[in-house]
Amino acid sequence: MLSLIAAAVCLIGSVLTQTPPSYTLAVTNQTLGLSYGSVSVEAGETLPYKVPSTTPTLSSTLGLNETYIAIIVDTTANLSSPIPADLVWFQQDVTFSSAGIGSANTSAQVPYVAPSSVGHAYLALLYTQPPGFIIPSNFPYNDTFRVAFNVSRVAVDFHSPLLAANWFVLGSNCSAPSHTASSGYGYGASTGFASGTHGPWAKKTGAVYANGAAGRY
Ligand SMILES: *[C@@H]1O[C@H](CO)[C@@H](O)[C@H](O)[C@H]1NC(C)=O
Ligand SMILES: *[C@@H]1O[C@H](CO)[C@@H](O)[C@H](O)[C@H]1NC(C)=O
Ligand SMILES: *[C@@H]1O[C@H](CO)[C@@H](O)[C@H](O)[C@H]1NC(C)=O
Ligand SMILES: *[C@@H]1O[C@H](CO)[C@@H](O)[C@H](O)[C@H]1NC(C)=O
Ligand SMILES: *[C@@H]1O[C@H](CO)[C@@H](O)[C@H](O)[C@H]1NC(C)=O
Ligand SMILES: *[C@@H]1O[C@H](CO)[C@@H](O)[C@H](O)[C@H]1NC(C)=O
Ligand SMILES: *[C@@H]1O[C@H](CO)[C@@H](O)[C@H](O)[C@H]1NC(C)=O
Repeated sequence: MLSLIAAAVCLIGSVLTQTPPSYTLAVTNQTLGLSYGSVSVEAGETLPYKVPSTTPTLSSTLGLNETYIAIIVDTTANLSSPIPADLVWFQQDVTFSSAGIGSANTSAQVPYVAPSSVGHAYLALLYTQPPGFIIPSNFPYNDTFRVAFNVSRVAVDFHSPLLAANWFVLGSNCSAPSHTASSGYGYGASTGFASGTHGPWAKKTGAVYANGAAGRY
């Protein structure tokens, strides 16, 4: 059964929004450039299992000149939970070069983990990071705790509107999309997020995150 489902999701559908049609917690039509090696994700397409296995490169044509928070979630990690999303990545302190390529100077609060649930929709989100932002001391998410991330709380708690997004479905071992990254959607070791050199960052109490209890996101 799994192989039939996986084969079905290898088809590419046409989509308008940059977020999954059935997912209403975060909606935008603004594209976040999301590249895995030479593969530049087109919203809603199915990626072969191995493609999203390493930290992606973000890019934007929006002329983003502030500091941003990048988040990737598995939107359907636990459908019996009122908060069905799990965190794949939470990278704070993202800036974009004049060419529109993202990078970060701090280690991700939640390091990227290779998506592993075939058929699930993985959603990448970009928010403006508030000035002076520090990961709140009671922020419960880290490398070993990723479950029940309430996406709709980000904008509220971090005073940060959703700017851009992109998403893909994890496929099985179907073939790679034929389109590849081009200029403006760059990638490569020198621009990636693999080596945060300035963590761990200072933590402080009383920051914007009001409730550190697990499952509040
Ligand atoms: C996205 O674009 C569609 C089609 O143009 C439009 O109906 C929808 O309102 C837009 N959504 C947002 C959040 O801008
Ligand atoms: C970012 O760009 C906008 C629009 O060009 C400009 O108004 C703003 O001052 C810039 N901000 C910074 C921090 O450079
Ligand atoms: C899914 O969510 C339900 C309800 O919150 C919880 O009881 C269950 O343990 C969760 N399953 C997993 C695998 O986390
Ligand atoms: C990291 O980059 C942010 C945004 O440009 C800046 O505010 C911060 O001071 C930098 N931190 C370090 C440790 O370089
Ligand atoms: C990760 O988060 C969980 C839940 O918030 C916490 O119990 C655990 O101690 C944290 N682990 C690390 C290494 O900080
Ligand atoms: C998720 O966060 C939003 C915004 O804070 C809140 O309204 C909603 O109740 C939360 N969802 C759950 C299931 O706690
Ligand atoms: C993809 O193929 C590899 C090698 O044959 C296998 O180990 C892996 O389980 C496959 N992944 C999926 C999701 O089918």
